[in-house]
Amino acid sequence: MAIKRQQGKAGHEGHIAAGKPVRASKVEMVEVVLPQDANVLGNILGGRVMHLVDIAAAIAAHRHSQSHVVTASVDYVDFRNPIRVGELIILRANINRVFRTSMEVGVKVFSENILTGERKHTTTAYVTFVAIDEAGRPKPVPPLILKTAVERRRYHEALIRRRIRLAYRYKRAKLALSQS
Ligand SMILES: CC(C)(COP(=O)(O)OP(=O)(O)OC[C@H]1O[C@@H](n2cnc3c(N)ncnc32)[C@H](O)[C@@H]1OP(=O)(O)O)[C@@H](O)C(=O)NCCC(=O)NCCS
Repeated sequence: MAIKRQQGKAGHEGHIAAGKPVRASKVEMVEVVLPQDANVLGNILGGRVMHLVDIAAAIAAHRHSQSHVVTASVDYVDFRNPIRVGELIILRANINRVFRTSMEVGVKVFSENILTGERKHTTTAYVTFVAIDEAGRPKPVPPLILKTAVERRRYHEALIRRRIRLAYRYKRAKLALSQS
């Protein structure tokens, strides 16, 4: 099976450690939705989902980088289906791509009905973490080793998202548009 190391082409040299496969840092988290997590309709609050997304993604980033990390941005979250009180919320986080000091983590969220076992994909989110040293400065992270077609697709798509999120960093693109 082909093994591809992320390096060179897009200027991501400067990594300090051997590469790690995606599976080494993947995360699956499961919780039951309790009444205090929900709105008056009995559906989980979006803010609660975002909190769990941040935690699941941070664990993946910690595992990959073996370092302290900070959330640099959350650029895409959608809520496709509600999750009801009493259902399970399942979060799967994978490192999609590593750049120099930053990592894009993709998080997929599912609901599971404990009586029927029915699972629904409810949320997708992309979170960027930056590894930091003891002084709080960004530090290089190990390359990502890709082994599957899905991992390669996510890797390519992550670069497109990075270009968009950095263009919008601190609303620069919006300012540029308003000045044109
Ligand atoms: C994220 C942070 C470390 C970046 O520091 P910085 O001095 O701007 O660093 P740089 O410009 O050198 O960028 C470092 C990396 O962060 C990435 N980055 C910075 N801002 C980003 C953003 N808004 N979205 C995505 N990536 C970002 C850069 O692309 C770069 O990645 P690379 O090395 O892989 O190419 C800094 O802004 C910070 O500490 N922010 C607060 C983080 C925090 O406290 N989060 C918790 C919620 S408040």
